[in-house]
Formats: sequence, C-alpha cells, structure tokens
Amino acid sequence: KEVKLWGGRFEESVTDIVEKFTESISFDKELYKHDIMGSKAHASMLAHQGLISSSDRDKIIQGLDNIQELIEADKFKWRTDREDVHMNIEAALTDMIGEPAKKLHTARSRNDQVLTDFRLWCRDAIDRIVVCIKYLQVALVSLALKNRELIVPGYTHLQRAQPVLLPHLLLAYVEQLERDAGRLHDCRDRLNFCPLGACALAGTGLPVNRFMTSDALGFTSPMRNSIDAVSDRDFVLEFLSANSITAVHLSRLGEEWVLWASEEFGFITPSDSVSTGSSIMPQKKNPDPMELVRGKSARVIGDLVTLLTLCKGLPLAYNRDLQEDKEPVFDSVKTIIGMLEVSAEFAQNITFNQHRIQKALPAGHLDATTLADYLVKKGLPFRTSHDVVGRAVALCVSKNCQLQDLSLDEMQIINKVFDKDVYEYLGVENSVKKFSSYGSTGSACVADQLDYWVTKLEL
Ligand code: ARG
Repeated sequence: KEVKLWGGRFEESVTDIVEKFTESISFDKELYKHDIMGSKAHASMLAHQGLISSSDRDKIIQGLDNIQELIEADKFKWRTDREDVHMNIEAALTDMIGEPAKKLHTARSRNDQVLTDFRLWCRDAIDRIVVCIKYLQVALVSLALKNRELIVPGYTHLQRAQPVLLPHLLLAYVEQLERDAGRLHDCRDRLNFCPLGACALAGTGLPVNRFMTSDALGFTSPMRNSIDAVSDRDFVLEFLSANSITAVHLSRLGEEWVLWASEEFGFITPSDSVSTGSSIMPQKKNPDPMELVRGKSARVIGDLVTLLTLCKGLPLAYNRDLQEDKEPVFDSVKTIIGMLEVSAEFAQNITFNQHRIQKALPAGHLDATTLADYLVKKGLPFRTSHDVVGRAVALCVSKNCQLQDLSLDEMQIINKVFDKDVYEYLGVENSVKKFSSYGSTGSACVADQLDYWVTKLEL
C-alpha cells in the first residue's frame, strides 16, 4: 500500500472499510478543474513571494496542465486510496514531476483548498443556472407573444375569479424567475471571497500574499478571518436556498400545466414530443415532464435540508462532516438545471386550446368584480355595490344565466343606479378592457409588460 500524504505519524495503514467509508474521490473529482486552477494560482503566488523557485513553479504548472488534459481525455486514474481530489492530483503531480510537486502544498491545507475549489465551482454553477433561467423566461415570453389576446379564467382558491389575459399570467412566472436569478446574483457576490491562505484554520507564518491569489482567481478579496474561511458553509446554504425557491416556482408552474393538460381543464395540449404514454392504457398521453418538475423539486428542497442539518451541530472550524457538503450541492445544481431546461422545452411545445377556453369563460361570473366597480363609478359605496352585485349573481344562479343576460329592468329592481351602459362592463372581453391600473390585466398594461420583457430579454 502507498504511504498516505499525511502518513508520517502513522504506524498502521487504514483498513479497507475505513478507506472506503472516508473517501470522497468518487464524487469530489467533479472539482478537478477548479482544484487545478487554485493550485496554479497558489504556485504562482509562492514563486512571486520567493517561497519556491520560478523553475519549480513552471514545472508545477506544466504538470497540472498535463494532468488536466489526462482527466479530460478520461485517461487519469482516480485512486480511492488517495482519498480525495486534492490528494489525487497532488500525488499524481508528484509521480509526474517529482520533488517540485512536494512544494505545492506550502502554506496551504486541504481545508482552505477545498473551499477555494468549492466556491469557484459554485460561482460557475450559478452562472450556468442563470443562463437556464433566462432561457425559460424567453420561452415563456415567446408563448405569451404567440397568445397576446387570449383571455383565460384567473383563479383564486382554484375557483373562477376574474378574466385575465394569458400573457399576464405567463409573465407572472417570468417575474418570479427574475427574482430567482437576482437571488443567485446576490449569492454569487457574497460567496466570491477567497479562503486560500487560511490554511488549516489559523493562517500561516510564511510570507504569502493572499491578495494575489484572490485576484488571480477572480475573487473580490481574501476572506478577512481565516477561521471563518474554513468553517463557513453559509454560501452553500444560501445557494441551495435560492435553488429551492426556484424549484418551488417551477413546481407550481408544473402543477398548473398538469392541471391545464387534464381533460377537466383542457386548456393546453402538449405535443407528443413532450408527453409519454402508459404501458397498459393505450389511450393515455401524460404530461410527465412537468409532473417530474414538480416531483424533482422535492430533491432540491431535500438537498437544502440535508445541508442545514449537516451544519447545525458543528463547532468551529473544519470538521470532516463537512465533506458531506458536496453531493447535495452537485445534486441540487444538476436537478435545477434539468428542471429549467425541461420547463422551457415544454413551454415551446404546448398549444392553447382557444375553443375549450372560450367555452369555459362564460361560467363563474368572472365579470362580477368589474360590475361592482361600475357601480362605484356610479356613486355607490363599494360595500353596497358588492352586495348589489352579489344579489345579481344570486339571481343569475337561480335563472342559470350570466350577468349579461339580465335585463336592465331586472337589474334596476335590485338597484336603481344600473343604467344601459352597464352592458359595456359585462362579459369577459368587456371586463378585461376595463382594467387600467399599473400591472393589471388590461390590454395596454399587459402590452407594457410584454414590451418590458422583450427589451430586457433582447427578443
Ligand atoms: N475531502 C475533504 C472535504 O471535502 C477535504 C478536506 C479534508 N481535510 C482534512 N483535514 N481531512 O472536506
């Protein structure tokens, strides 16, 4: 058995069971690129500070580049007995270039190294997710543009509420996604500080230059407190919180589309290319991608809860428990990207069934609130107008008709204020036309919102 990099004080090697249980290479090899990036910056700094020679620096950097090539060509042999990504790469570098490699870990611990890698990895992951968010926003806005004038029932309590323009509703999701991206940007700004040079926890007496490595790696500055630097995991908690909120938004979108695709609603038809069938029921066509978006949100939330639970009992500074922080983050990122991509794909492959929606609109007295506003314009206090319209609705229920089917006489029996212009307020088309407040469902207001997003997303 090879002697461990940390093997000096040990007389026995670890048992196979312990080795298998404590390794992290099976998952943290995901960090290889950022580990190599961090090591190259570290080696350059060590040379600049006179801690290693410039020829050793060059050999180290060349060796690391070669290792990266081997990894990317799938020719690198990851070894469980070398425990994690950091020691795999360092040991392979030693095999490759000999003595100079042994100087690389000067003024560095795996504790600050792993966090440098992980922050860099998360920074890139955030950038990837933000692109996927934008892509879904584009898909939703395009869907809105294709259905500019389409009126659909708006719901509260999943009961018919008021008529709304479909773009208004789709843009509500676009707004949520914008805040999701904003949360990721905030998280990125807050995590972009460099732990390198914190070493095990206390820093070092060697003349390092932490500002130099921080700069080289694109961080804002080195972290101020070395103990905080190796202990902190709130950057991942924040990251996974942001992902969880996005996941919840996507899950709600998924639920809505699953409902709309049902025979009961029938508002949308997903194309065959985004549907799946049943192994027993020949007639079935299911909106599985959006069901799984709803389902996979559970994983993303679970990943956050795993990390919160992992961290809650830990004293300062580094504890080995923290090795468990990687997989939930990798899983969360992979899952949220998949959810965003498939939602965009689905959005590009659904059609709205104008006919079914048209048939659904007359039910539920969607224009009742517009009618109450009409009476306010005629001078009634809102509470009175609410009561008056309530009685008009009750009359419709008993006659099984819509508000616009009531005669002026019938309305005037309920309240004298009704006039013949009332019919300009009734029916969903008229009702939608009456909305004018900022952010409302009125055509002009929705057109403003659409313009805003078309410009912002450069469509
Ligand atoms: N694989 C470890 C992790 O992911 C790296 C840091 C290990 N440090 C240590 N002192 N054992 O947390």
